[in-house]
Amino acid sequence: MNAVPFLDLSIEFWRLETEWLDTIRASGASGRFIMGPQVTGFEREAAEYLGVEHAVAVANGTDALWLSLRALQIGPGDEVITTPFTFFATAEVISQVGATPVFVDICEDTFNLDEDQIAARITSNTRAIVPVHLFGQPLDMDKIVALAQDSGLAVVEDCAQAFGARWGDAAVGSMGDTGCFSFYPTKVLGCYGDGGMVATRRADVAARIRHLRDHSAVAAYIHDGVGHNSRLDEIQAALLRIKLRTIGSALAERRRVASRYAERLDGLDIVLPSPRAGSEHVFNSYTIRVADRDRVRQKLSDQGIASAVYYPQPLHKQPVYRSLGNRNGALPVSESVCGQVISLPIFPDMTSAQIDQVCAVLASAITGVT
Ligand SMILES: Cc1ncc(COP(=O)(O)O)c(C=O)c1O
Repeated sequence: MNAVPFLDLSIEFWRLETEWLDTIRASGASGRFIMGPQVTGFEREAAEYLGVEHAVAVANGTDALWLSLRALQIGPGDEVITTPFTFFATAEVISQVGATPVFVDICEDTFNLDEDQIAARITSNTRAIVPVHLFGQPLDMDKIVALAQDSGLAVVEDCAQAFGARWGDAAVGSMGDTGCFSFYPTKVLGCYGDGGMVATRRADVAARIRHLRDHSAVAAYIHDGVGHNSRLDEIQAALLRIKLRTIGSALAERRRVASRYAERLDGLDIVLPSPRAGSEHVFNSYTIRVADRDRVRQKLSDQGIASAVYYPQPLHKQPVYRSLGNRNGALPVSESVCGQVISLPIFPDMTSAQIDQVCAVLASAITGVT
């Protein structure tokens, strides 16, 4: 049996090689390497794809979140509600601006922030909600936006793993005050280095982020604030433009893999992803829950099948956030799923034979029958 990688980015590279290398040559010849026509072209096309007025390319997804919070003037003394079951950056940026993350537990079936538990954690200090469309699965944005409007809160969507996902007719990233994307290579829309973007309908917020991402410059070498260097380069933007043109087929490929997994794994003692009615999941990860996670992972690994654990520890139990006082058992769903999740290989071009091989090994690990 051949090994099955967790993801294989080389297949796509070879498909795009000529077109991308041609654009690198053109950028080199033009002498524009940072914030040139490829970046503005990508911002225009990404905004159009997402159905927002403004897209501002930045250096990575963490900066997209951090610059959003800064642009919304969230800072010391403020509380920001988010999920404890996410990549660290989501909460890290809240702390970086001097605010306090307030963790609310997640739903068992979606792994996302439980929309119905948010209201109880809003205080007079709460300024924003940062929902994370984890693994590519959208939250119920109707509920989040309505609650935020009623309570006077901002919404910063963490869409790092969910480019192209939709809640109803709307793309994720288009419903909050900002939508923050990562183009880290493993993401649904990934470049060949670091990259990120903020999408927004708000002209005022877009203008503040453009200002902050370039050292708060108002003219050449004139600065009216303390900003940051967070720019996307031309070569990454050129690649993202190429990939954006075929994002529909990349997403369809991920859905093909996910539906074959769902078909083949049905009936086993495994909790499978369950996209909500009316939403479009993009399966940045295909994450399942099993009772005896570490033994099952070992069996997969023994048979050459790569897997990952996103995430082994909820954020409220991270050493840095212990001082927030969330005792053991405070957020029980997050705590239990961290011990049960396995993310299986998923990538465009994954063959049916590879999917079936993963399913066969998983079935024998779960049932004990080889
Ligand atoms: C949910 C989430 N938020 C934020 C980020 C940060 O993105 P980046 O790595 O581009 O800074 C990531 C990236 O892994 C992520 O998965």
